[in-house]
Amino acid sequence: SAAAGLNLNDIQGDILIGMRKPVELFFFFGISNTAAFKSKLKRDILPLVTSTLQILNNDTAAASTLVNIAFSHTGLVALNVTGDANNLNDPPFAAGQVNDVKNLSDPGTTNWVPQFVGTNIHGVILFGSDTEDSINSTLASLQSKLGNSISEIYSLRGAMRPPPNMGHEHFGFLDGISNPTINGFQGPKPGQAVVPAGEIIVGQHGDNVTRPAWAKDGSFLVFRQLKQLVPEFNKFLADNPIVEPGLTQEQGSDLLGARMVGRWKSGAPVVLSPMFDDPALGADDNRNNNFTFAEPGQTQSNLTDQSKCPLSAHIRKTRPRADLGLPENSTSFHHIVRAGIPYGPEVTPDETSSNTTEIERGLAFVAYQSNIMNGFQFLQESWANNQKFIQRGVGFDPIIGAAGGAERPVNGLDPTDPVRNFTLSTDFVVSRGGEYFFAPSLSAIAHTLSV
Ligand code: HEM
Repeated sequence: SAAAGLNLNDIQGDILIGMRKPVELFFFFGISNTAAFKSKLKRDILPLVTSTLQILNNDTAAASTLVNIAFSHTGLVALNVTGDANNLNDPPFAAGQVNDVKNLSDPGTTNWVPQFVGTNIHGVILFGSDTEDSINSTLASLQSKLGNSISEIYSLRGAMRPPPNMGHEHFGFLDGISNPTINGFQGPKPGQAVVPAGEIIVGQHGDNVTRPAWAKDGSFLVFRQLKQLVPEFNKFLADNPIVEPGLTQEQGSDLLGARMVGRWKSGAPVVLSPMFDDPALGADDNRNNNFTFAEPGQTQSNLTDQSKCPLSAHIRKTRPRADLGLPENSTSFHHIVRAGIPYGPEVTPDETSSNTTEIERGLAFVAYQSNIMNGFQFLQESWANNQKFIQRGVGFDPIIGAAGGAERPVNGLDPTDPVRNFTLSTDFVVSRGGEYFFAPSLSAIAHTLSV
């Protein structure tokens, strides 16, 4: 397929459409022997790397485990990619995520997984499959080939939640509904953002940054281990139900949660179904993303109507749609493609009764973009963490907004009283850190990184 002129044979499969597998392993490694690793990268890893076309054509039967790989900045240095070839012209990537802690308003690195503190991680291998066993056997066979050319620094296992919560993140909300598509590639489904290829894929139309030729058809991979305090989140909802005629207390709590996300647990957007969940709407991908937030008479200086959806809602903060003016895509180049997966077990009865997290669970967050400053970093720092976005008084994104550990004012959550302020003293999402990576094209692996 030559859709959008993209070389889908050459673009790694997780970037545009995701591996879409129920089990995933993120294997973070350091390179111990450059020459040995480079030859094994070509001989042993490259043949396993799954392209976009292979996933599209479902041509992955031979390999029961999908594999992708990405390198950090220090990883490129370890591969002897130096001089101009080393300059991908992306400052957050070059500095490493540990040096972005302030910009992201993480409360320091005390909550970080120790292995993410520093810049020792050279790369990550992503394994996706239907079963844990198949991942384990692919990993074991690869490790025996790689020997001590690399060392494992850390790994995180992700898995879809068991039925009936498959596809839902740990707070209970359906995820993976709204990702942008590339102009001319697939879709668009109604309401889906259509972006120039260069917003996600390096070196394509719309990516105007100067970079070495080998970087073409790659994409920056932002990885974040985001711990979710699920019993604490549920307690907050139970303690603060929206009080409206016709709503039970439980329905009032569900409404508060839905307004924090901007969608009900089924995925139904609150802007289309403001009072009650509508599972049929949530499941219908021709309707569940087909909205703009625009109300009759709305202008950019007149964003006052929060009766259906708060301006602070997670999906409105991270993709304001018509709030930034229509048509959406001529005004925003801040899009990411998300490909994360939950990690950790279901909430136990003990945790429910004590309203306290005892076992870590959360989201293995993965975002692809051609420019980390315009993509992930912008969404987190300039939108979610910015109390004045989209205008004064909005407050933080109640799901992911971070204030360096301080209390987070959030407004607009109560439809009966739009100026009611919720001051959140708990971060329901706690950053455990991560790293910035570059997921190169298959040909860059063959012709630049492994020679
Ligand atoms: C959408 C949850 C972290 C950006 C969503 C949705 C949910 C969700 C339930 C709606 C489903 C969908 O539209 O696909 C979470 C949780 C997080 C988290 C629980 C942390 C544990 C993040 C982070 C970012 C982000 C860190 C970026 C900085 C987005 C974007 C959308 C989205 C861009 C789609 C908005 C749209 O197109 O309408 N998230 N998210 N999320 N999230 Fe998150």
